[in-house]
Amino acid sequence: MRLSLLPTLAALAATVLADGAAIVSAIDAIDKSTVALGNGITSWNGKLLGALPIVGSSTKLLIDVKKGTKTAEQSEPLTSDEAFQVAFATINLAADVNVTLGAIIDAKPKFDKVLLSPVILGNLKIQQGATEDFSGAVIDKVPAELQDIAKQLVGGIADSFDQAIEAYKLF
Ligand SMILES: *[C@@H]1O[C@H](CO)[C@@H](O)[C@H](O)[C@H]1NC(C)=O
Repeated sequence: MRLSLLPTLAALAATVLADGAAIVSAIDAIDKSTVALGNGITSWNGKLLGALPIVGSSTKLLIDVKKGTKTAEQSEPLTSDEAFQVAFATINLAADVNVTLGAIIDAKPKFDKVLLSPVILGNLKIQQGATEDFSGAVIDKVPAELQDIAKQLVGGIADSFDQAIEAYKLF
């Protein structure tokens, strides 16, 4: 009797943990994909075929962001503690987004040479839209008193996207 209760309790604990922790883990997954994409672009030799893995990394990142949006949408409102965990993960992500989008801006002459810059611009816009959806879904779950801070944190990410898109518009 007692033993059979244990799995139920474990399942309950898991659902309680799910929301804040699940969002943090979604942000961490997005962060890993962001770093991988940045590394791929930095080490790209500038050849057309060499750009294929970049397309792969960029697709993976988009999928991670969309998954994260679902996770955030399904989440209960976050406690302040959970919101702080999410904030720390977001600060870390914003720093990596800055580096990766910086690498994309730096690589523009190489993308120009193989005529891929319009494709990159299209991808940046899609990624920007997906990121806005994700940010909005997370902010919805942040307690009211922390919403301003949350908006500032994701604002840094939005600025990075604006910079990269601005750079690629000048094709
Ligand atoms: C990255 O951060 C630096 C320092 O704040 C800033 O000057 C630069 O414009 C940012 N780049 C991007 C793409 O966000």
